[in-house]
Amino acid sequence: MSIEIPEGLTELLQSFTVEVLRNQPRDLLEFALQYFTQLKDRETKEASFGNDQNSAPRPGKAVNFIDEAMQIDSENGEEEEDDDDDEEFTAPVINRFIRRASVCAEAFNPDDDEEDKEPRVTHPKTDEQRQRLQEACRDILLFKNLDPEQVSQVLDAMFEKLCTEGEHVIDQDDDGDNFYVIESGMFNIYVKVDGTEKLVGCYDNRGSFGELALMYNTPRAATIIAVSPGALWCLDRLTFRRIIVKNNAKKRKLYEAFIETLPLLTSLELSERMKVVDVLSTKVYNDSQQIIAQGDLADCFYIVESGQVRITMKRSRTKKDQEEEEVEIATCSRGQYFGELALVTNKPRAASAYAVGSVKCLVMGVQAFERLLGPCMDIMKRNIANYEEQLVTLFGSSPEIEQQCV
Ligand code: CMP
Ligand code: CMP
Repeated sequence: MSIEIPEGLTELLQSFTVEVLRNQPRDLLEFALQYFTQLKDRETKEASFGNDQNSAPRPGKAVNFIDEAMQIDSENGEEEEDDDDDEEFTAPVINRFIRRASVCAEAFNPDDDEEDKEPRVTHPKTDEQRQRLQEACRDILLFKNLDPEQVSQVLDAMFEKLCTEGEHVIDQDDDGDNFYVIESGMFNIYVKVDGTEKLVGCYDNRGSFGELALMYNTPRAATIIAVSPGALWCLDRLTFRRIIVKNNAKKRKLYEAFIETLPLLTSLELSERMKVVDVLSTKVYNDSQQIIAQGDLADCFYIVESGQVRITMKRSRTKKDQEEEEVEIATCSRGQYFGELALVTNKPRAASAYAVGSVKCLVMGVQAFERLLGPCMDIMKRNIANYEEQLVTLFGSSPEIEQQCV
């Protein structure tokens, strides 16, 4: 599910919060009433001068309440009228980490090199630490497309954090500070649904989290709690943006046209398709190399960018025969996908996949798959239903794929 944050909401609430913190009013509701009434009056006035016809307050143009007409004395609760109505609107205090109005905003402007000017972050490490860090980062998809110099900068900047059982590593709605790579430990993922926290998944001694708030300048989208003692490697926000987000901007340009051609993604909005690009990494396979092994546990999904992928399934030669042969059941070429079935059914891989010639695939991790491809589930399920037919045609019977696919 994708939730659009109305334009201006974040700035509106942030300016209000700043004023609450500055004024420390006794009666918060009364303060809110005065604040928003004042804001509306201002806006109406501005509109009547033909300045702004938009109903949402413009970013950077909110009321600086303490300097505005209404001043509430927090000590005695008295309200003081200030009749200098013509005072200019003042921009609220905006820090560098200010949240953007919409989660669909551009992830990064690659031409804006502001963040390049920040000094590089380095946390010295022992050889043993560096080795553990490299091992933990080996399968992190977001790091896959980086060049060796970028990888080295990322590893230099990362620092270790030990977690105790029950520790909240991230709280939903907070600002994003770090991106986390798991070295060890189990971490539950909770998302608020109608005000109550719902367990939506778990990281089991591998993976990474905390990229969304840093990529899109949005509040944290989930709460992450350690359910065992654990060890994490953290990458600070600035380094993440300077290297990973900048790299994503290039990736968007590179894959924009290809992504638009994928029938699977037609039910996604353009901004959602761009978010898909942000979480994809590329993997290259040589001729005959195994991409997926039947029976393995699954943690990612593949789209073929170039070359051909052969899908095979193990079958006994006869009903009594113990010996199995590997039979080709399908081929996937550019624009087609595979590896979704195990993620949808939560079962081991139903078939194997091998490269035919040199193959390049776009790979997406299971968490991103679940988060982003919900709207594409109908198309996937329709195709999964076809697998059964395919197997019946080939073998006269099929495993119960459709029953698996709830
Ligand atoms: P971020 O929003 O920065 O912080 C919370 C993290 O939880 C988020 O980034 C993702 O990395 C991770 N996460 C895992 N599953 C989900 C989910 N279903 N919805 C939102 N975030 C999720
Ligand atoms: P998964 O089970 O995750 O890994 C193997 C993949 O092969 C599977 O997902 C499907 O994407 C793909 N596949 C193609 N044809 C079939 C088929 N007839 N039965 C099962 N999987 C198939």
